[in-house]
Amino acid sequence: MKRIAVLVSGGGTNLQALIDYKLKSGEIVLVVSSKEGAFALTRAENAGIKTLTLPRKNFPDSKSYSEELIQLFLEQDIDVIVLAGFMTVLDDSFCAVFKGRIVNVHPALIPSFCGVGYYGLKVHEEALKRGVKITGATVHIVTPECDGGPILAQKAVEVRDNDTPETLQRRVMEEAEWVILPEAVEKLCAKL
Ligand code: GAR
Repeated sequence: MKRIAVLVSGGGTNLQALIDYKLKSGEIVLVVSSKEGAFALTRAENAGIKTLTLPRKNFPDSKSYSEELIQLFLEQDIDVIVLAGFMTVLDDSFCAVFKGRIVNVHPALIPSFCGVGYYGLKVHEEALKRGVKITGATVHIVTPECDGGPILAQKAVEVRDNDTPETLQRRVMEEAEWVILPEAVEKLCAKL
């Protein structure tokens, strides 16, 4: 069983999908939130998973924040790290230490609507503004290039004429993110 840490910042529906999937090759042993009071922490506690809040605002820069996380994950013998709605950019050093073992879920079909500044609802606002008829989600390996790492899985989702950013976000989560994230994490854990 690979030891998995999940990094979160918000509601934690992707964390919930990972918990509910019941991974065979990995176990979520730690959930770390960059935001105090994130609902994802409650989800983890309800599932009996150890939690830690490490507010990004308490650190002067991404480097010092990433160093703290590296230390923590090495101490805890973490094999795989999942960014599940984690809204903080990690330093290159973090990507180097855990190369090939960090997974992110992005709410669009990369290379569309991705990169610096594209996160959360903003991604769906931009997709609607551009008028795309198909969007979706991508699970990829994290490298120093924002949303630029190798793609593990993608799933397309239709955009409807009357969609708002909120309705589109919900459909992309339900039909794509919650499906492909657990599958991709399972596959990676089994392969490592
Ligand atoms: C998800 O849609 C996830 O893809 C997105 O934030 C949301 C988090 O929801 N992540 C990004 O935009 C990362 N660039 P959740 O907290 O309910 O899982």
